[in-house]
Amino acid sequence: MDRAEFAAHVRSLAEKQGVPLYLHLDHCKDMALLRAAVDAGWDSVMVDASALPLAENIAMTNKIAAYAHAHGVHVEAEVGQIGKTGRAEEDAGIPVASMEDIRAFLRATDIDLFAAAIGTAHGLYHGTPVLHHDMIEEIGYLTDLPFVIHGGTGLSDDMFRALLAHPNVKKINISTEVKQAYRRGILASIDEGLLQVMTGQGFEATAVAARIAESIRTMAEEKLALLRPADGIKAEGRRGQQ
Ligand code: 13P
Repeated sequence: MDRAEFAAHVRSLAEKQGVPLYLHLDHCKDMALLRAAVDAGWDSVMVDASALPLAENIAMTNKIAAYAHAHGVHVEAEVGQIGKTGRAEEDAGIPVASMEDIRAFLRATDIDLFAAAIGTAHGLYHGTPVLHHDMIEEIGYLTDLPFVIHGGTGLSDDMFRALLAHPNVKKINISTEVKQAYRRGILASIDEGLLQVMTGQGFEATAVAARIAESIRTMAEEKLALLRPADGIKAEGRRGQQ
């Protein structure tokens, strides 16, 4: 789907349902794509130059921040690469960002949301990750920026609660778990006979789509029950503030 059409589509769905929506481009290393999302009216973009040396990460972040801010779009950036989950013993020792780099990055950039490697990773954990709460707390003293937790899939409910206890933790990203719910929806469709080809009729594709949507909705509702603050969720972008 075209990026602007996609933005208009999800915005219209959200309006119809009366839910706050914040359309974000996650982990993007490509300057042209970052600019295209800004131009297409998305609310925020994440520039992920965390694999580059710090000075280059700062330079790329500031470049897209200048462009995005001129268009009223938020920018998230990352220090210390948040990688992928590994074997059990690797998950317990996931690399974390250096506090020195974090300080230098925060001093030198103009961003709206901040992410850093604090012990989480993308994918399914095989071991138990060690979350560095001391780093999150220190970052909270350094900046008022909302802090973003990546690698939300597989964190225990207690881990979520401990993360949310930090006043600066404002966003927790969950992706792999959504894809797993999607997969469960397909498997349930097979179990329930929705994929059986009926002679001359094909099968009901919309019934399968609805089963997948139901599976994702159940998963999302469970997470929201855990994460939703008592006073509700507010989504206010730069565009909204103008
Ligand atoms: P998971 O896929 O581990 O949930 O991580 C999602 C994420 O951090 C996307 O930015």
